[in-house]
Amino acid sequence: MCGIIGYVGKKEKKKILLDGLQELEYRGYDSAGIAIIENQRLKHFKAIGKLENLREKTKKYESSNFGIAIGHTRWATHGKPTELNAHPHLGKYSFVVHNGIIENYQEIKAELQNKGITFLSQTDSETIVHLFESDYEKNRDSFQAFTNTINRLDGAYATLLITEVEEETIFFAKNGSPMLIGFSGEDIYFASSDTPIIRKATEVYYLEDGEYGYSKDGNVTLFNQEGEKSFIKKPLTTNKASAQKDSFRFFMEKEIYEQGRVMGETMMGRVLDNSINFDELEKSLFENITNIKICACGTSYHSALTGAYLLERIAKIPCQVEIASEFRYKEPLLQASTLFITISQSGETADTLEALKMAKRAGLKSLSICNVDNSSIVRESDNAILTRAGIEKGVASTKAFATQTMVLWMFTLYVAQLKKSITQEQLQTEINAMIHTPKALLVTDKLHAKLHRLSKRYLHGHGFFFIGRDIFFPLALEGALKLKEISYLHAEGYPAGEMKHGPIALADSELFTIALMPSSMQYEKIKSNVEELSARDATILAISPKPFELADDCIRTKYSSHPMLEFFEMMVATQLLALEISIRLGNDVDMPRNLAKSVTVE
Ligand code: AGP
Repeated sequence: MCGIIGYVGKKEKKKILLDGLQELEYRGYDSAGIAIIENQRLKHFKAIGKLENLREKTKKYESSNFGIAIGHTRWATHGKPTELNAHPHLGKYSFVVHNGIIENYQEIKAELQNKGITFLSQTDSETIVHLFESDYEKNRDSFQAFTNTINRLDGAYATLLITEVEEETIFFAKNGSPMLIGFSGEDIYFASSDTPIIRKATEVYYLEDGEYGYSKDGNVTLFNQEGEKSFIKKPLTTNKASAQKDSFRFFMEKEIYEQGRVMGETMMGRVLDNSINFDELEKSLFENITNIKICACGTSYHSALTGAYLLERIAKIPCQVEIASEFRYKEPLLQASTLFITISQSGETADTLEALKMAKRAGLKSLSICNVDNSSIVRESDNAILTRAGIEKGVASTKAFATQTMVLWMFTLYVAQLKKSITQEQLQTEINAMIHTPKALLVTDKLHAKLHRLSKRYLHGHGFFFIGRDIFFPLALEGALKLKEISYLHAEGYPAGEMKHGPIALADSELFTIALMPSSMQYEKIKSNVEELSARDATILAISPKPFELADDCIRTKYSSHPMLEFFEMMVATQLLALEISIRLGNDVDMPRNLAKSVTVE
């Protein structure tokens, strides 16, 4: 989703901004822009589409004296992706970039328009710059004008503002959307995540909600509602883990292939010879806990659903799963005996973060399962388990889902150990299976070639149904989500046993059914469900270790002894199917239309 970068210092600013925005590119955007003030000259550039367009427009511009600079990649929320709607937004002598949503922007806009102020864009963000200038013109105090401005804003924001009336200062504020400040000698950086400033800044401060202030003369002055406050910088990692595509065509493809390797990282130090260990968890985490609630969005919600099956069946602890955007407004009844788990790849998903804050306000203990250390969700949680998948660039999540699911499987066994709801023999069986997971995730040339060949038969039709039972139902949901995200074809995930209660009405030869048919879990049941569809002429692609003569196409998997190994092996097949269909359709696999990697608005 939208990305922010800012810089105060003597270095060449255009390069810092454009390179920083490039690092944020994978999060999804549809336009970009930069604004720089140097030697009392304000310059700005905007372009729709890819960053190359902005690079082209700024080709002849350089800025190597002291100055201030802000940049932004925009993912459209209010108004189409046009140059006018791209950030930075201009007032008469100031520029602003903003992530988040200003909920009361219409009211503020109407008020300012009544005073004769003209708006150029359809965005909520533009109100910030006009509000600032209209206050400044009354009081001639730029910091007071900025403070008054942010006090008027309802909703979520991370914002940077620069103005010709204070040409050595960047004003900043954060509430609900992520923002951090990087330090390196006299150079000060701002960014919406740490990736663009790694190896530029050496120390970092992650702003808290409600904090705002300004940066000038190599210093940062910080405030919150109580007034000026001190802050402690942390060393910033130098490990960029900046993903390269290597020999792969797309990041998503590379990330599918990486899953076997990263799973080793996820398990390291946690899967021991005969027990599961999480050093990062407080020993008291489970004191007085009788049940678990997991909250997440999208793919992370699918791993949560999988985890709930495991937690109830193996750890014998009641577990409920909630979609974060629903949970926030349903006025849930929360009890202190519930452990509240959030799952998020990015750690910045606005709905999940807000759900976590709600649970904490209600006094619940919290745990996050996340791929990004120091992300907002990790910082907000009492406990965190990092999934260690490494940076995931493809918008369609693959290795993040795999590692989240693995963490939930390990966590289930950890809880089962604590609650003594598993025998040592059962635990050993689970651990033995777990150790085989990296092999189940291997992408062989044969498998990939088969899916490449098959994909050409699945480019039309009136829809896809991915069906499965038990943990293979969330896997079906995830398979369908992957396909629709990158192919733009309609796909649904459904519990196989539920098809006869309605969706079977759609069955004909143009309905593609991807049937997940594990041999170690309810094989006969799902077989009957698929037979019912086949009898109505649906086209069946069976993914199973067993032969199934009614299938039109078959992917024969290798593992048949443990449901989780079957799960991971089938997951790879569904990911490759989506990838190959998308490539054949000529789509942008890594940055599908309308999607953002990190959804920081609700
Ligand atoms: C995954 O392929 C999606 N792009 C999306 O559903 C994603 O999982 C969702 O937005 C939640 O993101 P998070 O895991 O970063 O919280």
